Amino acid sequence: QPIVLSGCQPSGQLSIGNYIGALRQWVRMQDTHDCRFMLVDLHAITVRQEPEKLREATLDGLALYMACGLDPEKSTIFVQSHVPEHAQLAWILNCYTQMGELNRMTQFKDKSDRHAHNINAGLFTYPALMAADILLYQANQVPVGNDQKQHLELARDVATRFNNIYGDVFTIPDPFIPEVGARVMSLQDPLKKMSKSDDNPNNFIGLLEEPKKITKKLKRAVTDSDEQARIYFDVEEKPGVSNLLSILSAATGTPIADLVPAYEDKMYGHLKTDTAEAVVAMLEPIQQRYHDYRNNMDFLNEVMAKGANQASAHAAETLRKVYDVIGFVPRP
Ligand code: TYM
Repeated sequence: QPIVLSGCQPSGQLSIGNYIGALRQWVRMQDTHDCRFMLVDLHAITVRQEPEKLREATLDGLALYMACGLDPEKSTIFVQSHVPEHAQLAWILNCYTQMGELNRMTQFKDKSDRHAHNINAGLFTYPALMAADILLYQANQVPVGNDQKQHLELARDVATRFNNIYGDVFTIPDPFIPEVGARVMSLQDPLKKMSKSDDNPNNFIGLLEEPKKITKKLKRAVTDSDEQARIYFDVEEKPGVSNLLSILSAATGTPIADLVPAYEDKMYGHLKTDTAEAVVAMLEPIQQRYHDYRNNMDFLNEVMAKGANQASAHAAETLRKVYDVIGFVPRP
């Protein structure tokens, strides 16, 4: 079975963007792929986190993973900081990644604009850690949303460079990006992506939000103010409406092209109501399952322990190989 690896940052409550763009694909891949899914706490600290909130968000994320359908019997589910090889390989890959490559990363540019008071070295070399995450497991496929595509290309470039110097050490990973929902946009500013760490909570919908609140947020979503309030899909001309159509399509499983005719002589309000209903229905089973997982700390510990052991075994093997080809003397 092909190997899959992916992860989310525990930097806030997971959003419908994370679910539609990534997590939902992970759930589906469990039966056909050899899957590893983690919560990337090492990545999260590239932006300042409050210790107690980070701990909570990591455990919440873990419970949510399972509430969404990740199954620890089928997949390896773990916390990144429990597997020290991530940090170890990241250091090494830093030495094979060029400043110029990192300078081109649009996420670094975005985040250093938003966190101008804390442009730390970790934020800059973040993609080398992400490359380490993927290459440690020799992953074939990496299911992510569209915003991670550039990081993945860098991981491929670094792996190829390393292999060209030392021989076939790393598998070159392919991105796996969904056709619909790969870029869920902010509800108030549909020109930027929906983000769980957005300062304005009206911009995103968390997976654990109450149905009432979800409906309110979607009803208030910004639509497009051209003369005719027609409903059709055009990301450039109608970013707000197109975002709602994408969310509705992802939540119902109906292709966008099949949705549009039904709105021929309807108003934005109809689209918003339908989207809210569909999102609430999509999240209902997840929310029902969540609390049982979150309140069962013994079970969460068991999952984390088992996941870390399984992940470590694979990661250690790759790291050993890397140390050897580089020329490090083995520890006697
Ligand atoms: P993160 O935590 O920002 O997001 C987790 C996953 O959700 C996807 N995503 C979205 N998809 C569609 N629309 C959106 N608005 C949206 N927002 C987020 C992301 O593309 C991602 O797939 N660097 C990564 C985490 C990471 C990782 C890895 C991923 C670290 N190491 C190794 C894959 C493999 C990140 O910050 O994701």
